[in-house]
Amino acid sequence: MSEEYLLQMTGICKSFSGVRALDNVNFKVRPGKVMCLAGENGCGKSTLVKIISGVYTKDEGQVIFEGKEITKITPAEATRLGIQVIYQDLSIFPNLTVRENLAINSEITAGRKMVNRKRWDATAREALSKIGCNIDLDAKMGELSVADKQLVAICRALLFNAKLIIMDEPTTALTKKEVDALFVTVRQLRDSGIAIMFISHKTEEIFEISDDVCIMRNGKNVYSGQTADLTRRDFTYYLTGRELVDDRFVPTNISAEPILEVKNLCMPGKLQDVSFELRKGEILGVTGLLGSGRTELALSLFGLAKPSGGQIILNGKSVKIPSPIAAQKLRIGYVPEDRLTEGLCLQQPIADNITLASLKRLSNALGLLKKKDIYEDAAKWVKIFSIATNDPKKNASTLSGGNQQKIVLSKWLSNDLDLLILNGPTVGVDVGAKQDIHALVHQLANEGLAVMIISDDLAEVVVNCSRVIVMKEGAIVGEMTGDAITEDNILEIIR
Ligand SMILES: Nc1ncnc2c1ncn2[C@@H]1O[C@H](COP(=O)(O)OP(=O)(O)O)[C@@H](O)[C@H]1O
Ligand SMILES: [Mg+2]
Repeated sequence: MSEEYLLQMTGICKSFSGVRALDNVNFKVRPGKVMCLAGENGCGKSTLVKIISGVYTKDEGQVIFEGKEITKITPAEATRLGIQVIYQDLSIFPNLTVRENLAINSEITAGRKMVNRKRWDATAREALSKIGCNIDLDAKMGELSVADKQLVAICRALLFNAKLIIMDEPTTALTKKEVDALFVTVRQLRDSGIAIMFISHKTEEIFEISDDVCIMRNGKNVYSGQTADLTRRDFTYYLTGRELVDDRFVPTNISAEPILEVKNLCMPGKLQDVSFELRKGEILGVTGLLGSGRTELALSLFGLAKPSGGQIILNGKSVKIPSPIAAQKLRIGYVPEDRLTEGLCLQQPIADNITLASLKRLSNALGLLKKKDIYEDAAKWVKIFSIATNDPKKNASTLSGGNQQKIVLSKWLSNDLDLLILNGPTVGVDVGAKQDIHALVHQLANEGLAVMIISDDLAEVVVNCSRVIVMKEGAIVGEMTGDAITEDNILEIIR
């Protein structure tokens, strides 16, 4: 084939009841290449696919396939041209067998009325062998895994002599292993000369599988080109329209010896044999679904839950932590998930809240509070954290959620700590305050604090942690460090 492009779409516009879903979209697919159509939810990806496959009619624009303009695309015409779409719902017949699903469309389009089992069998086997897949032909489609259903759908596309196979968000319901297997098939198809249009919004997948990428945002295409020419940072910018603040935590000062060693911590129904280490200068993420044991783990380290077995070693010494007071004496701080009920006295002055955990330091030999020192201390933290108040004597209730959280944090930080445990540190906190909190925690870790962040906000875990452990049903089921910490990798283990 002499054409550089298999498919070219220019100036495509489409509106639904006056609302522009596609605004002057330009799009090209090279034969034998993987083109990724990327974009956040609702940006118009599926609409574009449906125009290519003849499900929707474009309002404006030009579609050229194999060098010829196609003025009127219908689903039948698209099929005839060799365009096949594998939709998210896979358009299968769940009650029929794999054999029947594979043969049915070709039987229908061939206009045959009589069913010939032998021919069906041959057709089905030929399709499966094309991608070296050995699914049982007699299995009911509905009983196959999503990954196998996809393979059958791909086989079916091949039976129609597809030149362009479009996959609309094929990896949504797949495990990491299944995605890897799908990618093997995609590369096989590509190498056999078929063009693949792969729709996704997942950065790592797109960089792994695509040769070319077209990024859409709000119905417009904002980038087209080769994937290799794009950095992940630029990709995120095009996808979201927001400049990515590269505020990932980079540890600079991790101690050689662990400050905390947890060995075989158990709690019936809550924790199973949990063991890990934490060093100064590290920010350790502990994540998992609700009920995975992440919170019980944190509570055990702060004397708020009682493990039934196991050992907690702090600075090389085995310790018992029967109460929060004991935890504080061991220089452990804990910022709870629900700061309003657990972490703050809303009807007390901001200054008192900040200094609550360090009253010993701020009182004289007779136990009387040194008011002046309290205000000085409080003023220092108001400044460090840019807490939005003009008077630390005002009640904590006068502050926004983000600023309240900053107070809870400074309460602990004003007390010299070795280990700070943050449970959902920025739940309900606005973006600006979130960034302030993250930046400060990074700074503290690099100054030698050991930090544990308990969170199910994966984006937060990825940005802030140098190491992550994933919990499931009370046990640690995965651990990753550095660049391996991605939302996709964590999700893979959590599920
Ligand atoms: N049949 C339809 N009728 C009305 N609006 C639609 C229809 N299909 C899509 N849209 C709208 O067009 C926009 C793009 O949708 P879609 O192409 O499904 O996005 P994506 O696949 O990128 O998530 C959305 O705002 C969606 O609500
Ligand atoms: Mg879609």
